[in-house]
Amino acid sequence: MSSPNVIVVGATGAVGQVFLRIMEQRNFPVNQLRLCASPRSIGKRLRVFGEEIAVEATSPEIFDDADFAFISASTAVSRELVPVAAQHGAFVIDDSSAYRMDPRVPLVVPEINPEDLEWHQNISAIPNCSTTQMVMALYPLHRANPIQRIIADTFQAVSGTGNLAMAELREQSRLLLDGGSVSPSVYPHQIAFNVLPHIEPFMEDGYTREEQKMLYETRKIMHAPDIAVSATCVRVPVYISHSEAVHVEFQHPMSPEEARELLSAFPGVVVVDDPKANLYPLAIDAAGRDEVFVGRLRRDSSHPNGLAMWIVSDNLRKGAATNAIQIAEEVVKRELLKPRR
Ligand code: A2P
Repeated sequence: MSSPNVIVVGATGAVGQVFLRIMEQRNFPVNQLRLCASPRSIGKRLRVFGEEIAVEATSPEIFDDADFAFISASTAVSRELVPVAAQHGAFVIDDSSAYRMDPRVPLVVPEINPEDLEWHQNISAIPNCSTTQMVMALYPLHRANPIQRIIADTFQAVSGTGNLAMAELREQSRLLLDGGSVSPSVYPHQIAFNVLPHIEPFMEDGYTREEQKMLYETRKIMHAPDIAVSATCVRVPVYISHSEAVHVEFQHPMSPEEARELLSAFPGVVVVDDPKANLYPLAIDAAGRDEVFVGRLRRDSSHPNGLAMWIVSDNLRKGAATNAIQIAEEVVKRELLKPRR
């Protein structure tokens, strides 16, 4: 087919901006590119592929000529726009949680379950950023030795919340370093120089919605309906990259050496694991990179079939924008775009 027409909804946002840069870096073939954001950004001009493109309002008709619609705005926006875009014939790649658990919508990490795209109905969701990096590190191990149980503690960057949260961290840090006081607005508490065990609303069972995503999305992506996941998701004053301390219980014992070998052979995963030389994955090193970095691999001394590890990845890239573009590339490669009306 000729190059696709692409619409990016949320083009001015934290993920949208990275998405446009990655499209350029990967030289994603685009015929016509249209950019949308909230009403307050209409008319703003963004430079992409060397051209100035004006931000437009979203409307059902805008999707008429689109082959791909990337939507990264908010769950409410996705709930409204995803079905509209799909009905108008665009293949929608959605970054929100609105349709991830819908049985008609594939939830895809292209290194793991690209074949799920085959049953698409014009929509694919991308997983939550904290899930994506975890399954990238666990799937190659799970294939060799089925995982029964995962305990994950996350340390998540503020960029996962968006541009306003990054501005809030900057502003609070400045005020506090100057001896002032702060009044939180994006988060329920001060985020600068603090750690918040609270991402998304609390549910009936005491977990947050973010923590529940790590259970249900992992099961769906890895086709492992019985896997058990207990997560504690924590917001930390870091701009980019989520870090995760993950403890895994396998069916049989797995040595750290075998895990390193399996991980090193898996596309998109890099093992950084020489603790005696102070080498382990770090948020600042992962920022701007597309890979998932794994280190601190060791036997879990509390369980004979257990391994412990530390997983770090850029939440805006593999956690969102890169994964979305990889899905589009896979859809093109597999010739899965439905013919337009
Ligand atoms: P805007 O920049 O005009 O507010 P972030 O995750 O960084 O907060 O970004 C959210 C993105 O979603 C921004 O691009 C934002 O645009 C966009 N957005 C917010 N509301 C809407 C809407 N109703 N329609 C389209 N885009 C929206």
